Amino acid sequence: MDKIPYETILDIRKKANIVDIIAKYIPLEKRGKNYFAICPFHDDHNPSMSVSEEKQIYTCFVCGASGNVFNFVMKYENVSFVSAVKKVASFVGINLDVQDVKEKKEDNTKYDKYYKMFDVVNKYYKNNIKSVYGKNAIKYLHERKINDDIINEFEIGLSLNDNSVSKLLQEKGYDKDELIDIGICGNTNNYMYDTFRNRIMFPLCNLDGQVVGFSGRIYNGEKESKYVNSKESVIFKKGHLLYNYHRAINEAREKRQIIVVEGFMDVIRLFSVGIKNVVASMGTAITKEHASLIKKLSQNVVLSFDGDKAGEKATISAIKEFEKIGITPKIIRLEDDLDPDDYIIKKGKDAYLNHLKNTLSVIDFNLKISEDKTNFNDFNEVSSFVKDAVTELEKINDKVIYELTLNKIAKQTGLSKETIDEMVEKKPASNAYIIDKRKPQKKNKYQKAEEYLLHYMLRSKDAILLYQDKVSYLPNKKLSIIAMEILEFYEKKGYINVSDFTLFLEDKTDLISEVLRIDDLDLPDNVSRDVLIDYIKTIDEEILNNEINKVKDKIKTETNVQNKIELLEKLRVLKKRECK
Ligand code: UTP
Ligand code: MN
Repeated sequence: MDKIPYETILDIRKKANIVDIIAKYIPLEKRGKNYFAICPFHDDHNPSMSVSEEKQIYTCFVCGASGNVFNFVMKYENVSFVSAVKKVASFVGINLDVQDVKEKKEDNTKYDKYYKMFDVVNKYYKNNIKSVYGKNAIKYLHERKINDDIINEFEIGLSLNDNSVSKLLQEKGYDKDELIDIGICGNTNNYMYDTFRNRIMFPLCNLDGQVVGFSGRIYNGEKESKYVNSKESVIFKKGHLLYNYHRAINEAREKRQIIVVEGFMDVIRLFSVGIKNVVASMGTAITKEHASLIKKLSQNVVLSFDGDKAGEKATISAIKEFEKIGITPKIIRLEDDLDPDDYIIKKGKDAYLNHLKNTLSVIDFNLKISEDKTNFNDFNEVSSFVKDAVTELEKINDKVIYELTLNKIAKQTGLSKETIDEMVEKKPASNAYIIDKRKPQKKNKYQKAEEYLLHYMLRSKDAILLYQDKVSYLPNKKLSIIAMEILEFYEKKGYINVSDFTLFLEDKTDLISEVLRIDDLDLPDNVSRDVLIDYIKTIDEEILNNEINKVKDKIKTETNVQNKIELLEKLRVLKKRECK
């Protein structure tokens, strides 16, 4: 994708007030000069994110997430910097980048024909179910408590027991090979037949809501496989899409939660009782792609798989996928091996909502699994249960939760709390669960000099010019890169301020966070040249020390006499410089 010029980005930023844009995603509350919000980037309970209208940046003081308006959209929507800029531009009515739009169009038209084919077929199926041929299918759905509104909403249709789809599409002039490629038809000996026959049809949509495949369910009690899915194609990859994703996007963001289930019917049931922030993995294991798609909807993920053993297994493997991308999901385990659909039918919506209110943590879930397989009358089994429990206890970093869990395990096993506690090696410190990453650590004078000099470079041209003139680099690599970027920015733009500089850094969010931290250091507004020179002297001293230490290390390991002499000479020169 092509680059958007800095001036354009700056222009958009000027029109897009960060407060207005972030408020489109999460509720903001004004307190004094700044706005506050529950941080969407970690499991936040108190508003830890502040948004500064003045500086046009956001900062979470707990998880350290920070940046400008584009960085927020990038992170929230999990998109590239360019896409984020475009998104923000569209919010303020700016249409960006003709070339890029055209590129995308070309890409679309490549598959437009396929989307069109699926669309035609979808309309055909939807029509069938309402015709005389659909009587039994409708009866089946009604018996399953799926009413006509839901049938319409989910565009549920019916494939007939013939090859009418093949005929229809060929009559419309579509290419046989293409019909086969996308799995709508099959052929043997040049005879075209319909892939789906006499099944209740569920259209499967991509993230934008375009139909890219189907799943068809038997309804007449035949013994064939329950669901048949479209084969994978250039536009349909089962591991890359989730059922109901496009309908769930807004609901999930509003409710700040996304529920993941296994099946179509689970989605449809939850939806029909008003729980609409739900997607289904369609029976397959949650993939890495699934997990990151779900993360885009909300960081607050609830896994609500079937209540049977297979559902338990699927939960275990899904937890792993989510943990890999920094999400600790919550879990619902339903009784009597029921799936969410059957559960709601049998026990009612409120019983399900009760589960949703009392979700299990991963730790509770793991404990429950080892509990279920333990015979508490067998000492050996109790012993291995305690080992599992200790492993779980070691993962807890909230003191209160630790105590409560410890109590529960003691009760279950009949062991004393002390005995179990002694087995746990890693325990939570009191209140250690709030880790303030932004809390300043103790810094030595060298680190301070580097950071302070950089702080002033972010606001004063004199500091930049001094750096350019007198400093070769900063020993801290990240800070040194930032300094170089500041020089480049200043050279190109002829001025400096933090907000604009973060725009210049585009998607280097790591550097941006560091820049904002340095900018936030509590230092006097004005600084004299002498103080800046002092920082530079300290930095020089640090560089020299580092060089001396490096040479000393080399001398220690050098075996060649000639080389050693050269190194000693080098050391002498360096030390002489040090005395100056
Ligand atoms: P389940 O077997 O749990 O079906 O498979 P279900 O959701 O309860 O369906 P109903 O209630 O009997 O209609 C869960 C999901 O796995 C996929 C489907 O997406 C299904 O919703 N699946 C299942 C298939 O793709 N093929 C199958 O043969 C079975
Ligand atoms: Mn079911």
